[in-house]
Amino acid sequence: MDHFLYQDGILHAEDVALTDIAATIGTPFYCYSAATLTRHYKLFSEALSPLPHLVCFAIKSLSNIAILKLLGDLGAGMDVVSIGEYHRARAAGVPGNRIVFSGVGKTRDEMRTALLGGIRQFNVESEPELRALSQVATALGMTAPIALRVNPDVDARTHAKIATGKKENKFGIPITRAPQIYAEAATLPGIQVVGIDVHIGSQLTELEPFEQAFQKVADLTELLRSQGHSITRLDLGGGLGIPYTRSNEAPPLPLDYGAMIKRTLGHLNCEIEIEPGRLISGNSGILVSKVIYNKQGEGRDFLILDAAMNDLIRPSMYDAHHDIVPVIEPAPGILPQPFDVVGPVCETGDTFAKQRDLPPMAEGDLVVFRSAGAYGAVMASEYNTRPLVPEVLVQGDHFAVIRARPTFEDILKRDSIPEWL
Ligand code: LLP
Repeated sequence: MDHFLYQDGILHAEDVALTDIAATIGTPFYCYSAATLTRHYKLFSEALSPLPHLVCFAIKSLSNIAILKLLGDLGAGMDVVSIGEYHRARAAGVPGNRIVFSGVGKTRDEMRTALLGGIRQFNVESEPELRALSQVATALGMTAPIALRVNPDVDARTHAKIATGKKENKFGIPITRAPQIYAEAATLPGIQVVGIDVHIGSQLTELEPFEQAFQKVADLTELLRSQGHSITRLDLGGGLGIPYTRSNEAPPLPLDYGAMIKRTLGHLNCEIEIEPGRLISGNSGILVSKVIYNKQGEGRDFLILDAAMNDLIRPSMYDAHHDIVPVIEPAPGILPQPFDVVGPVCETGDTFAKQRDLPPMAEGDLVVFRSAGAYGAVMASEYNTRPLVPEVLVQGDHFAVIRARPTFEDILKRDSIPEWL
């Protein structure tokens, strides 16, 4: 069910007209639908039932504390990849025993803070990290629960920048060496082996690569158990893709993903953890922007928006496609025309779409980038000293600003001029 629909000719988020939000806080802004976030979380949780499971939302995809509170209150755990994300999860009220800590480069300081604050498990990605964690935990007189992230050498068949499960990628421990490293882990003080972790990439549009990876995890579970390790949790990472266009894409549904997990891993009596980000947040959010100018170029028209690559970097970074739609529904029979949709940043790379068909557009008209909830606001920057784009959460017929647009005073005061200048 899509919660971003036209009502009386105006695009709404749930029951709030986007024109009302724009009039209140200005543009550009990100806008999220609470109903969509809730529905997507529940789809995963229901798909894994009745297996014991924890859906750990990948905070990296959308990290606003209000969103984390919404999901945490539904029972979600959190997947964090930095102590900053850990602090966000805790600030949202998520208990430590629902937080898993992933990432290839956890520092000793980060490990210490997470251990002292409470953590469900560290997903350890290398032998040096394992040894460092053992030392940190021992020094605190504590025990760190761990899963080793294995790299199954599976082709996720996704964009090269977001594939993580091939042996040439920096992630995880080669699955062939896992038994040896589990043997070492079992001897290290301050370490308690609880499971296996795997994550092969993001925006996967087929189940097959997941299934290949999970089959390898199933085999490894049996092997490690036969060697005396207690494997009680399997963390399967995130990565299930979403449709970015409303027409031709149909990635597998969480229900099919869940059925495949039960088929490949259900017999192992493990608690299943998953770390979805994009599927929960992606289609729950949009970026709303305003046309600054409609500029006639040589053989093409440029639609210059007040949003730019610093606000939504996915098109310039991954050549990603986001549907762009007008906030005011075009009258029937209006003929679309092709535009190059661009932002005001001084780089040719600040291009959202080339020759995209849109209804005729004029200065001041509002447009929406769909599917922008994941890896949108979190990847924004203040490049060109453009204030970080604000975020709004809608629930039913009301909305709240969940991150305000900084003022220029806020921005400028972060710099300081040394007294010797
Ligand atoms: N777990 C781990 C260990 C991850 O590295 C990731 C994503 C996830 C879970 C969540 O994956 P998801 O369910 O969202 O696919 N900025 C890129 C995507 C980077 C993904 C990084 N890791 C983009 O905009 O497409």
